[in-house]
Amino acid sequence: MMISVSAIERIPENILARLASFMRRKSGKRTRPLSPVVQVTRTVAVPVQEEQQGATIAADIVVPTQTVVAPTVAAPISLRRSSRDRRSAISSDYEVYLNEEHLSLSHMEHEIQYSPVALIVGVTGMAGLGLAEALKKETALGGPWKVYGAARRSKPSWLPSSLVDRYIYFDALNIHDTQEKLSPISNEVTHVFWVAIQVRDTEEANVTVNSAMLSNVLNVLKMAPASRLSHITLQTGTKHYLGPIFDSALASQLVPRDPPFSEDSPRLPFPNFYYALEDLLKSYSPSLTYSVHRSSIIIGASSRSIYNTLLTLAVYASICKYEGLPFKYPGTRYTWEHFCDMSDARVLAEQQIWASVSDTAKNQAFNCTNGDVFTWKSFWMVLCEIFDVDFVPFDDAEEFDWLGEMKEKGRVWDAIVEEKGLYKTKMEEISCFAALNMVLHFEFQHVCSMNKSREFGFFGHADTLKSVRMWVERLRDMNIIPKEG
Ligand SMILES: NC(=O)c1ccc[n+]([C@@H]2O[C@H](COP(=O)([O-])OP(=O)(O)OC[C@H]3O[C@@H](n4cnc5c(N)ncnc54)[C@H](OP(=O)(O)O)[C@@H]3O)[C@@H](O)[C@H]2O)c1
Repeated sequence: MMISVSAIERIPENILARLASFMRRKSGKRTRPLSPVVQVTRTVAVPVQEEQQGATIAADIVVPTQTVVAPTVAAPISLRRSSRDRRSAISSDYEVYLNEEHLSLSHMEHEIQYSPVALIVGVTGMAGLGLAEALKKETALGGPWKVYGAARRSKPSWLPSSLVDRYIYFDALNIHDTQEKLSPISNEVTHVFWVAIQVRDTEEANVTVNSAMLSNVLNVLKMAPASRLSHITLQTGTKHYLGPIFDSALASQLVPRDPPFSEDSPRLPFPNFYYALEDLLKSYSPSLTYSVHRSSIIIGASSRSIYNTLLTLAVYASICKYEGLPFKYPGTRYTWEHFCDMSDARVLAEQQIWASVSDTAKNQAFNCTNGDVFTWKSFWMVLCEIFDVDFVPFDDAEEFDWLGEMKEKGRVWDAIVEEKGLYKTKMEEISCFAALNMVLHFEFQHVCSMNKSREFGFFGHADTLKSVRMWVERLRDMNIIPKEG
């Protein structure tokens, strides 16, 4: 016989959030908040001899009370039941109505069960922040994502708590710390986004430490009894084509590939921690898939980045303005007049998420830049406007010991931080004058090809000179640099 049964229950917070997100995406519009207290009404076919049992089962099904419109019999759909003897009493016909949208519960259950869980290792870096923001967007491919954000130090105040479901700090170089902090989530994580980096004096040492960090994390997640880990996203960069430019013993021997750099170039005959990390990922194949993202100079916002070109330039401009010094270009005429490219952290994040959920992109390496080029001269003009300092034309005749001068400016930055009430930083920690100086002295155009990425279906791009303005505003909003000028 058919009977109508209903029950009242409370939906767990995490399921409620996912239901709400599911409904928003399904309907494409804002929906009323869901009540955690829910009522289910459904039509159940109950064999006469099991009628009593059927009434008990009803307590297992949940629908928000105020949103139930018209429970009715609908297409067949399977239910997860808690015991075999109960199953025989359940009708396969029912439909759930939520906020005037009627949805298939089996579809929702499927989405909830298989929704992806990201672990961003390096969430406080420029690439990491961009990723957390992108994964938490309602429109994120493959979403809704649960996001764990991890870094070595505790959470900085400028990183909004809402960007991650949980912030975890652990030292990936320390096996025990990694085990202890990641074990609790090791049966949950489906995707690792690797945007961490440690820098040492030699490239050999970079290979050792960065490989150890990635290996420690993957071991914990892969060895978990019910590991769901399926994909690793690896962020690297154009040093793949340039070689270990920051290793003083090797730098003079390097002859970079001809630009535009393309993914199929053979490796250079020098140690490179990017090669080591790629090889590590390949060693997990086919049980894990991976994607590699080779960025140009990253443009984003963080006070925890080792190489932060934009923040370095912002510090330099702020100091020039504060002291009334000319904001001179410290590079060469070649870089002033020739092309360079950059990678907006938002484009990087988009490409990484796309590759993590696209079958065609699996086990591939992609360059990732904004897709345009700029000259440092045009970049400098924009900086002058943003920081309200005079534009000084490049002068070949003038000798300018930029690195020497900036070494002395730590106390000036301290004064600016103090006076403007900025987030506490030390100039030496947030700037990379030496690395940027090297870039501004390149004798080649630092430009990557984006053809492969487009051919595989990723079309994200950004206008670099607009990106600069946007990210400077973000650094100001984060109170890392002064608001005015
Ligand atoms: N920055 C660029 O312009 C640029 C350009 C091309 C390629 N890349 C590449 O992009 C990748 C990411 O770079 P990024 O600049 O975004 O990095 P980043 O801003 O310097 O951030 C590094 C992140 O890694 C975390 N981390 C470092 N050591 C860790 C450890 N032992 N355990 C856990 N977390 C640790 C840091 O946390 P803590 O601060 O708490 O240590 C931080 O969140 C790197 O491979 C880099 O070479 C960067």
